Amino acid sequence: MDKLRLGMIGGGEGAFIGPVHRIAARLDRRFDLVAGAFSSDPERSRQSGAALGLDPARVYGDWRAMLAGEAGALDAVAIVTPNHLHAAPAIAALDAGLHVICDKPLAASLSHAEAIAAAVARSGRVFVLTHQYAAYPMIRQARAMIASGALGALRMIRVEYAQDWLTRPLENEGHKQAAWRVDPAQAGPGGALGDIGTHAYQLASFVTGLKADALCADLQSFGAGRVLDDNAQMLLAYPGGARGTLWISQVAPGKTNGLQLSIYGSDAGLEWGQEHPNQLRFTRFGEPAQILERGGPSAMAQAYGVRVPAGHPEGYLEALAQIYADAAELIDARNAGRAPSVDPGLVPGVEDGVEGLRFVLGAVASSKRRAWLSRAEWVAE
Ligand SMILES: NC(=O)c1ccc[n+]([C@@H]2O[C@H](COP(=O)([O-])OP(=O)(O)OC[C@H]3O[C@@H](n4cnc5c(N)ncnc54)[C@H](O)[C@@H]3O)[C@@H](O)[C@H]2O)c1
Repeated sequence: MDKLRLGMIGGGEGAFIGPVHRIAARLDRRFDLVAGAFSSDPERSRQSGAALGLDPARVYGDWRAMLAGEAGALDAVAIVTPNHLHAAPAIAALDAGLHVICDKPLAASLSHAEAIAAAVARSGRVFVLTHQYAAYPMIRQARAMIASGALGALRMIRVEYAQDWLTRPLENEGHKQAAWRVDPAQAGPGGALGDIGTHAYQLASFVTGLKADALCADLQSFGAGRVLDDNAQMLLAYPGGARGTLWISQVAPGKTNGLQLSIYGSDAGLEWGQEHPNQLRFTRFGEPAQILERGGPSAMAQAYGVRVPAGHPEGYLEALAQIYADAAELIDARNAGRAPSVDPGLVPGVEDGVEGLRFVLGAVASSKRRAWLSRAEWVAE
């Protein structure tokens, strides 16, 4: 099978997620990184490309120059720039006939998110949003179990994603990743909400198949001088009567990447945590808990993407690699005009991104008004 030719926008030396994407894109040998516009600083982009061993002629100081210079020579682009720099390259790449793998949140505003969605629709290209937590095998298993009715009627959906790295004002100390994340012009309307709240909300929705139809949020900016939230707690109401709680924080000392999801129904409960992502705890009411293992005897077909046997840990890198592997299959299938062998419903896309922006705006509006807001109210805000 020919590898897909990938160009990267962002992810230069010193960046966080770009290098992680490069590892993930390589893992299953479905992509070849052949070009890049790695930085807004042409010299830094050049250095980054050289360090990666790319042909210097295919390393660009500007993403527009890359799209022009690489016309016909790329299949897809990966976009790993700060949030406010997703929309323009994504739309230009789609309009140039390229498939797009973009990091979350989709954009820094709902209008930009909707413009990307429109470009996806008119281009007919594949668009994948890297909510990689949704690609953990045991998360996909949880989704399949819930869809099959293993929990009964859903009652409580609890999700939390807590970190501590913004406990101190790193943004005032030259920390690049912190600086843009606390700036509404670059991050968008949500701080921690956009950064990790969108992951938490997407994960709960992905696993349950439900989008919240009302929410009541309480946002704080504990860091002095911050205008965006760095902590948020909220109540959610889901169709069918299930109720949710969501806590996200970047100022919780001792928390690193504590993404946790617990779902309880009328018959059983499921618990999962990203720091132990290979296990799912399943408890039928009145029975002892079962620990379901990635690659173990209880694994369902939906829990695919297992590269090493049960007991050898797989984690964050493999989950993102699975997003890339699934993206490659969707792209190959689209290019060949055949049905993909993966379920497109398992791969986060542009709709997740638009919903993520709506969720952020709803939470911000609810907190400001100190009120529950229905979906109709928050979408109209
Ligand atoms: N999926 C995840 O788990 C995850 C984790 C971290 C970050 N992210 C997302 O990834 C994106 C990047 O975050 P990060 O932490 O890596 O940020 P970062 O600041 O570490 O990296 C951003 C990169 O984009 C480059 N860049 C900026 N403007 C550019 C331009 N005009 N052209 C080309 N390159 C440009 C910067 O030079 C830098 O290399 C954000 O949208 C963030 O929300 C996702």
